[in-house]
Amino acid sequence: MKQKNQKIYVCDNCGEESLSWAGKCSYCNSWNSLKEIFVSSEEQKSNVENLEYKKISDIDLTNNIRIDSGISELNGVLGGGFVRGSVILLGGEPGIGKSTITSQICNLPKKILFLSAEESLPQIKDRLIRLKIDNKNLDLASGGDLLALEKKVQKERYDLVIVDSIQTVYISDLNTSAGSISQVKESGLFLQKMAKKYDIVTLIIGHVTKDGTIAGPKIIEHLVDVVLYLEGDKNHQGRVIRGIKNRFGSTNEIGLFMMTGEGLQEVSNPSEMFLSQRQNKAGSVICSVVEGKRILFIEIQAITVITKYGYAKRTCSGYDLNRLSLLAAVIQKNIGIDLSSCDIYLNVVGGIKIKEPAADLAVCAAIISSYKNKPYNDQACFLGEVGLMGEVRRVILQKERISESKKIGYQPISSEHIKEIREISNKYL
Ligand code: TYD
Ligand code: MG
Repeated sequence: MKQKNQKIYVCDNCGEESLSWAGKCSYCNSWNSLKEIFVSSEEQKSNVENLEYKKISDIDLTNNIRIDSGISELNGVLGGGFVRGSVILLGGEPGIGKSTITSQICNLPKKILFLSAEESLPQIKDRLIRLKIDNKNLDLASGGDLLALEKKVQKERYDLVIVDSIQTVYISDLNTSAGSISQVKESGLFLQKMAKKYDIVTLIIGHVTKDGTIAGPKIIEHLVDVVLYLEGDKNHQGRVIRGIKNRFGSTNEIGLFMMTGEGLQEVSNPSEMFLSQRQNKAGSVICSVVEGKRILFIEIQAITVITKYGYAKRTCSGYDLNRLSLLAAVIQKNIGIDLSSCDIYLNVVGGIKIKEPAADLAVCAAIISSYKNKPYNDQACFLGEVGLMGEVRRVILQKERISESKKIGYQPISSEHIKEIREISNKYL
């Protein structure tokens, strides 16, 4: 048990705590990463007031009304809007649109505070004007001191507080820099307590970085009520908000957006977004994928070219490289096409990442089409898992996907239509 006002050492790299300083962290072996912090006395008092205690019959649920976020795609992911007093973490790569979407939320006719430790007040205002946000009850704050934030919150009673971002705010009592593991952890805990104490919806932005130099928002995921990730490819307009954790709803929902000059626009007809610029050429196929509870139609493109090197290359974007190699081997074995001397490039259009095996058949179809340099019928839509023997298998929600694709005028090709991948070229090319 840590003592009152005790000095402890926390590793900036992995968060391991120790009572004495050492040059090397005993847990992750990183050098010179132990930073001294003081454990606040408040955390140490263990008496019954530290627990909120009530008889079940005395707990009032009337306040648990959802606050509409004003963005229906986001409401869907949240399970119907923000729950009062809840903490939502919105993660995503830098530049993907986190500040943009949170600025758009500021249009809500509620009392809101937008705290940015990354941008100056004129910068935040500039974006709000660009996004045509007009809320008289919106306050802006620039800076990262969370103790100061609490003082403001105590006075003003906000409905919603947005913190941009968890890696740049800090608690001045801790003498480690903003963005270190200990600051991110403690700041997350602080914001969570503040949200519950004042019953404010708190939206925390967290940058997900590929190199481990800044502590990622993952370390506070367990503290918050809802974890959302904003995903997409910065070179494409499509953005997806995905629920990773939700204490108040399902995580099976996604929200679809397009980044435009006027911020993130909701996408009500996803197929139009993903397929609008499609040209029916060899190597391009339409595929049905399920994201959350939604059935989407997207384009998969493949090109196969004779390799210039001794070792054939496989490259993909939005798809799993190992799965691509496996499917290339299945095609080679079952159809007899010599892909061992071909480089294969595969692209999922629109910045979507496919994770389900239901796209196997479409990937095989795209590769075969490119290899044979022949396009399919413009309406062909592939769905099916492919086994190592080349057999085409049923996929989850197959019936729904087939009826949905017929509804919008596609010709579904699935395990109901072909049994093996070799039939693709015989029947459809
Ligand atoms: P931003 O929300 O600042 O990203 P994050 O907070 O996740 O780091 O968005 C960054 C990008 O979005 C930036 O490159 C500009 C672009 N953008 C638009 O295309 N349209 C807009 O209306 C806005 C506000 C930003
Ligand atoms: Mg930002």
